[in-house]
Amino acid sequence: MSPTTYRKLQGAHVLVIGGSSGIGAGVSEAAAASGANVTISSSSQAKVDAAVARLAALYPSRTIRGIATDLSSPATVEADLDALFRSAQGQGTINHVVYTAADALSLGSLDGVSVDMVHAASHMRMVVPIVVAKTAARYLPGSHTSSITLTSGTVAERPTKGWAVVAYFGGGLISLARALAVDLAPVRVNVVRPGYVDTGLWGGWAGRRRRRLWASLRAGRRRGGLEGWRTWPRRTCGS
Ligand SMILES: NC(=O)c1ccc[n+]([C@@H]2O[C@H](COP(=O)([O-])OP(=O)(O)OC[C@H]3O[C@@H](n4cnc5c(N)ncnc54)[C@H](OP(=O)(O)O)[C@@H]3O)[C@@H](O)[C@H]2O)c1
Repeated sequence: MSPTTYRKLQGAHVLVIGGSSGIGAGVSEAAAASGANVTISSSSQAKVDAAVARLAALYPSRTIRGIATDLSSPATVEADLDALFRSAQGQGTINHVVYTAADALSLGSLDGVSVDMVHAASHMRMVVPIVVAKTAARYLPGSHTSSITLTSGTVAERPTKGWAVVAYFGGGLISLARALAVDLAPVRVNVVRPGYVDTGLWGGWAGRRRRRLWASLRAGRRRGGLEGWRTWPRRTCGS
């Protein structure tokens, strides 16, 4: 079904943190197509500006705004997120928050993982989602028409070899979303589990490593008996 069919987000304000590229850019576009006004955020001002310009050209009747905010600093992330929400709120009440921000994956198989690597990789994937929810709870109207959506991955439930730590982050996000849905009710809290999506996330992976990843995905499909791995993103998003 096309997102435009029922305009379910007509007039709503959607804040997409990580909306300047990849899955978040797709979410931003789908939200605008569904009638929403969209605020896009990520760390790079140039990427935010480009994403806003592209979406504003596609949907001139919507209010499309960008706010660059780097969430990578553990020391300032609470204040950074509060400033982001406050600024976004200036464009009208925020109804929905989508968190798709992530830095490049630096983790490999277990024998190459160090404690410092786990701490660093967990910041955007485990710590920031908690602070996003904590901040959103102060800004979203306390209503079932408000929502927070986090992003996990199919790796949480169908890990392939060498992905243990990332699977742990993804599984933790699913549990976090379930518990937050209880804590923050009536605000809805969701988590999506995309499969492999060809985005900038894999940009830093050299050709050989990337080919090995694709091979492991195919092997995972055979082991798990899944059909049509190319369609994973469509089948798993929104589950
Ligand atoms: N792609 C896949 O195959 C796949 C599969 C399963 C799950 N996922 C998950 O889906 C989510 C989105 O992934 P994606 O593939 O769309 O990645 P992506 O294309 O690399 O997009 C990541 C977004 O996060 C932003 N970001 C990165 N560092 C940031 C920071 N320090 N502060 C604020 N924003 C920051 C990026 O913009 P800036 O560079 O401007 O900061 C970008 O907008 C991630 O949680 C990822 O783990 C992806």
